[in-house]
Amino acid sequence: MSILNAKPVVLAALAASALVMAVSMAFNDKRLCVVCRVYPVSPEYTVTCSFTCIQIFCQRGSGDARMCDVCHRRPKRRGQQQCGNECAGVANVACLLCKYRPKDGRHDLCSLTCKKVVMILAPCILEVPRGHAIYDMVEGKFKRAWKDKSSPIPVIRKVFKIIENEEFQKPYELYRVDLAKATGAFGVGVYTSSASNKAYSYCKPNGALLLNKVVLGRVRQVSGWNEVMSCPQGYNSVIFERRNGILNETILYCNDAIRPVFLIIF
Ligand SMILES: *[C@@H]1O[C@H](CO)[C@@H](O)[C@H](O)[C@H]1NC(C)=O
Ligand SMILES: [Zn+2]
Ligand SMILES: [Zn+2]
Ligand SMILES: [Zn+2]
Repeated sequence: MSILNAKPVVLAALAASALVMAVSMAFNDKRLCVVCRVYPVSPEYTVTCSFTCIQIFCQRGSGDARMCDVCHRRPKRRGQQQCGNECAGVANVACLLCKYRPKDGRHDLCSLTCKKVVMILAPCILEVPRGHAIYDMVEGKFKRAWKDKSSPIPVIRKVFKIIENEEFQKPYELYRVDLAKATGAFGVGVYTSSASNKAYSYCKPNGALLLNKVVLGRVRQVSGWNEVMSCPQGYNSVIFERRNGILNETILYCNDAIRPVFLIIF
């Protein structure tokens, strides 16, 4: 009744102001931090407002699982973690921590901000999603290192990037000393292999494998068990290219010579 009585000009004005409100709400909503939903986003933190909110974001996401993993503004496409092809493309090269910005070249993260956050969270593991460039790289390394052509290459189920911090290193080193095999065929050492089939033979059928970085230093080649029982004088590591390398073994005698980089789950 009041609407019927209202003068057309007033209605038009009301409609216009409602439209302005709707537009500004939509605009503001887009610009609000996806975590607190209170403060506007800051250019440095892209979809969040502050270092506090990006820390929360990196641990549990925006809290709205319906939203695209990359832009956090549009809903996910059915059966996907992103809203569309463009965001899915970014996801495949995204920072392993925030997952919405492209990673920085060879690094696994996008920025100093993410590096700062990850050092607060460390030690931790970051899942590398299937389809990601790093996943393909790790899978490729594993497959190329498979030397035993007579057995099929197992299927990798998951890949994680290992993030260490300094406090993590100390117990890790002590732990590794405990693990070092006193009964090993070449004495007390850290036994590794460049042949993924050899490494996998200790964890099959379901298990985990660490992809490590290793400093070999001066290598002593051996051709049989027990040829050396400790680090040979003047050398840093021992390599036994058993069965022409199909069961290649690399033995290190110093904990500092090895660090885990990726965790592979079968
Ligand atoms: C055996 O392992 C060493 C050390 O990783 C590597 O340099 C060498 O090429 C490997 N040998 C074969 C035959 O794969
Ligand atoms: Zn916020
Ligand atoms: Zn998106
Ligand atoms: Zn990042």
